Amino acid sequence: MVNYKDLGLVNTRDMFAKAIKGGYAIPAFNFNNMEQLQAIVKAAVETKSPVILQVSKGARNYANQTLLRYMAEGAVEYAKELGCEKPEIVLHLDHGDSFELCKSCVDMGFSSVMIDGSHLPYEENVALTKKVVEYAHQFDVTVEGELGVLAGVEDEVSAEHHTYTNPEEVIDFATRTGCDSLAISIGTSHGAYKFKPEQCHVDPATGRLVPPPLAFDVLDAVMEKLPGFHIVLHGSSSVPQEYVDMINQYGGKLEAAIGIPEDELRKAAKSAVCKINIDSDSRLAMTAAVRKVFAEKPAEFDPRKYLGPARDEMEKLYKHKILNVLGSDNKLSC
Ligand code: G3H
Ligand code: 13P
Ligand code: ZN
Repeated sequence: MVNYKDLGLVNTRDMFAKAIKGGYAIPAFNFNNMEQLQAIVKAAVETKSPVILQVSKGARNYANQTLLRYMAEGAVEYAKELGCEKPEIVLHLDHGDSFELCKSCVDMGFSSVMIDGSHLPYEENVALTKKVVEYAHQFDVTVEGELGVLAGVEDEVSAEHHTYTNPEEVIDFATRTGCDSLAISIGTSHGAYKFKPEQCHVDPATGRLVPPPLAFDVLDAVMEKLPGFHIVLHGSSSVPQEYVDMINQYGGKLEAAIGIPEDELRKAAKSAVCKINIDSDSRLAMTAAVRKVFAEKPAEFDPRKYLGPARDEMEKLYKHKILNVLGSDNKLSC
């Protein structure tokens, strides 16, 4: 049994309480490899932002849960080396799909876990989430639940269509499960294809496709039912058009990739939404940078020569999110 506090990690409780009060959101960035982790930590330290490092089931399969946990421990030390004496870093399980998986993460030093029972019948979601909360809280590990279904692929959970969170259920769910935060469905979804072009209209000024707005009425109703409760938004990548264009320019083939406009995320960050999940944008930044090097320097075969620029591009992206979208900068004393 490893306690996350011994690794220098923190849970989400105080972090979220401060975020709600301050009208900003904490970035939750997924990581699968060293370059992503370096970029996240550098961006967080240089902007003095708390940060959540997320490990998905896919990441565990790709990089190994034990290795990722030690990397997160290393991230704390790296942040200190970069000059932040008291970094606030959470190691979070993203989309945990069973009690056993959540328990194994709690036991090995994660400071926060998500149990995603959103695809289950309501009573089964309540029972599973409650079981995880009862276990995790013994070790002061915070738990995120989910109500409502996001469209798109959620790790191994896939849903064709989203079902918005029913605000009538949130009090019952939060009270009976004891979860610390709740992921809700208001129209975001995972991946780089969040909307079909036919759902969008063309902005006459830029010629870009503009997706339909998020269901802020659902968010408002949830906040009214559960004032001050910590809300989470998944599927919050914006799919920057410059990365899509760069990928296509250098031999990629991304067609009509559409994300959540940053204005909508800025608005969400000022509300009870205190955690915003971003993964796809980092994948796009990395792919765009790597493709550019491959196209411009075809003789290059030292991985540092293309993963280095990819890391720089991701760092730029993470800083942009922190400074210009989530507003979580300058919250640490380092
Ligand atoms: O919620 C999904 C995350 O983007 C993780 O995706 O399972 O491909 O690592 P992944
Ligand atoms: P994106 O695919 O929009 O980056 O969402 C990531 C996410 O929600 C991880 O849980
Ligand atoms: Zn997610």
